Amino acid sequence: MTVHKFDAVIIGAGGAGLWAALELSKHPDLKVAVLSKLYPVRSHTGTAQGGIGAALANLEEDHWEWHMFDTVKGGDYLVDQDAAEVLCREAIETVYELEHMGLPFSRTPEGKIDQRRFGGHTKNYGEAPVRRSCYAADRTGHMILQTLYQQCIKNNVNFFDEYHFLDLILVEGRTAGVVALEIKSGELNVFQAKTVLLATGGFGKIYKITSNAHSLTGDGVSIAFRRGIPLEDMEFFQFHPTGIYKLGILLTEAMRGEGGKLLNGEGERFMERYAPTLLDLAPRDLISRAMYLEIREGRGVGGNDYLHLDVRHLGKNVILAKLPDMLDFVRTYVGVDMTQEMVPVQPTAHYAMGGIPTDIEGRVVTDEKNTPLPGLYAAGECACVSVHGGNRLGTNSLVDILVFGRRSGRDMAKFVKDNELPELPKEPEGATRAEVSRLLNSRGPETVGKLREELQQTMQDYAGVFREEDGLASALSALGELKQRYRRVSLQDRGKKFNTDLLEAMELGYLLDIAEATVYSAQNRTESRGAHWREDFPKRDDANWLKHTLLYRKDGGLEVKYKPVTITKFQPQERKY
Ligand code: FUM
Repeated sequence: MTVHKFDAVIIGAGGAGLWAALELSKHPDLKVAVLSKLYPVRSHTGTAQGGIGAALANLEEDHWEWHMFDTVKGGDYLVDQDAAEVLCREAIETVYELEHMGLPFSRTPEGKIDQRRFGGHTKNYGEAPVRRSCYAADRTGHMILQTLYQQCIKNNVNFFDEYHFLDLILVEGRTAGVVALEIKSGELNVFQAKTVLLATGGFGKIYKITSNAHSLTGDGVSIAFRRGIPLEDMEFFQFHPTGIYKLGILLTEAMRGEGGKLLNGEGERFMERYAPTLLDLAPRDLISRAMYLEIREGRGVGGNDYLHLDVRHLGKNVILAKLPDMLDFVRTYVGVDMTQEMVPVQPTAHYAMGGIPTDIEGRVVTDEKNTPLPGLYAAGECACVSVHGGNRLGTNSLVDILVFGRRSGRDMAKFVKDNELPELPKEPEGATRAEVSRLLNSRGPETVGKLREELQQTMQDYAGVFREEDGLASALSALGELKQRYRRVSLQDRGKKFNTDLLEAMELGYLLDIAEATVYSAQNRTESRGAHWREDFPKRDDANWLKHTLLYRKDGGLEVKYKPVTITKFQPQERKY
């Protein structure tokens, strides 16, 4: 078995991982490795479409304080406001830094970075939509990923492409490295390191209809959880209003930012009834609920469970210049020309607000007092810093990965200089080897595909946009049974090389743990806030629930603790749009 020694190891090559690597690479004496189960530029950041929010004020007055207010209100006041302040202040310099690295932003006629409207982003504390999203047509994430990857290559970052992260090595309460499987050879590798960043992205694959890629299985989140780290606010999962019907593929909110409208089966612009000021640019939690209410009340298109997104009035030139990928996607996947016809859409599972708790330097924390676990960092969707609270605003995910990826990289560089390489335990890969061997040798009757399908359907039915006690209880019991059946799963491929069957089985194990954590936390929170809507508790309850959930694995079961919300500038108010 190969043992590698590095100062810093980064798991994941999306925006958070790459920017952290870039910061570390500015110290040529440090040895830094990035491990990714994909080829780096296939990371999910590349699918981000509509833009990155920053109060540049290129087209109209804007301020980071307005951005912060929108973020806090959008998150239904569960946002930690010290973190939100960092997010919105540093968004501005982050965008300019990307511009200086060469990112090809769309431009105004005078050559400034162009900006467009996005859901929940407003001027003057909620008055009207503001142009805050900086974008590169509808390929913003793709451009960010290419730009950061090129910079990392220029700075000689070591990439271990197609190395699948399988375990975190902790020794006496501090980080000592990771275990990963080289997909090509099937060999386990140990990476001994002073510090590790988890930047493994989200876990939308717990749901059936999702905008998330096949690879988004929450590996980092689940492995941290298994190693005793709590998970924060897992009950909050965002549904993006405009997924392609039945497929869930994302159609950017920028389609509405540019003027597109949502219509019900009667051709009515129904958001006028739910959010009279912001209409189709209200936050996503509110619009997704409104869409399901329309469908439930029989106003879906032709009585079906979808609605229409209409961009025909934007005209072909605007669509070609600003939404070219959307035109292609809709033509390819639905056979519809959106310059002439309306597009069938339904809410799609999009983004986890919860995850591995961190402080504003990206350090993973393990309790309500924010005690850091030495050497361990997390950033991006797998982390919960918490800048999104109960519901993230569109464009703030790209800001989050870049701002906190960058901060993590900077803090890791300091940590490396102040600390020695820790000793490895005996057989650090022992537990992973045993699990791999169990899966390869199992002869049980269950298949990964069947269990994953049942898991995703369960989550879709009971832990989606609307939740209530009976449904959550039956989801929990179904997940318990699926976990039992997972013990009897067997693989078709028992070989070593490129055994994706094995890796998908490992990923199913992560999805099952994460789904259970999501449902357990959702059942526990008896109020409605942000994306967590309990039909049996339809009101926000600040007196009892203005607090973060911290979920621990304890003695084979789950235990909930709580952490206070940090409130600095904005006191909780009723949330009207
Ligand atoms: O609609 C979108 O372009 C998605 C953006 C986001 O999730 O931030």
